[in-house]
Amino acid sequence: MSQPKNIAIFISGGGSNARKIIEYSLVEDCGFKVAMLVASKPDAGGLLVAAEHNIPTLVLDRKTFRETPQLLSILKEFDIDFIVLAGFLWLVPTYLVQAFPDKIVNIHPALLPKFGGKGMYGMNVHRAVKAAGETESGPTIHFVNERYDEGNIIAQFSTPISPEDTAEKIAAKVLALEHAHYAKVVEEVLLSW
Ligand code: GAR
Repeated sequence: MSQPKNIAIFISGGGSNARKIIEYSLVEDCGFKVAMLVASKPDAGGLLVAAEHNIPTLVLDRKTFRETPQLLSILKEFDIDFIVLAGFLWLVPTYLVQAFPDKIVNIHPALLPKFGGKGMYGMNVHRAVKAAGETESGPTIHFVNERYDEGNIIAQFSTPISPEDTAEKIAAKVLALEHAHYAKVVEEVLLSW
């Protein structure tokens, strides 16, 4: 097998997907290594996960992230090949999309193109799915462009929703699918290079 690719995981919150991806990367012959974890908040739970595994971390400053390409030199220093957004809630700036063409993926907790766009994240998505009376939901994994949730779709996984399911229940069902599939899909994308 060729050399594992170095990925950076970007998070804003609890980091349960980051944890799954890190754990997946530790299995023998995994096609990637988590070389860095980048957080938009100093209290993002995923920072603790990275610390547990001695993975270098970086906490972003919003203005610097948006307005200067400073981050690129840090990603270069860590030899990052690929970026995985896992609950990262800031819009990815143009300089980063251009520096990593089709090399940034995101997971969104609904079946895009439904329930995507600005403000559609976390429980907002699941409440909207519930309110719309959807009969299924599930995560979408897609490439990232300069617009929220609009890049080309790589994979979708769906679970039935019954009328009794609360938004919280829908969230739990969708998150279970994220945990089951995200790391594997990342590995498949990297292997297809
Ligand atoms: C996940 O459900 C992910 O799909 C969602 O945030 C959650 C992060 O959970 N992302 C978005 O809503 C992006 N629009 P985690 O921090 O436990 O991995």
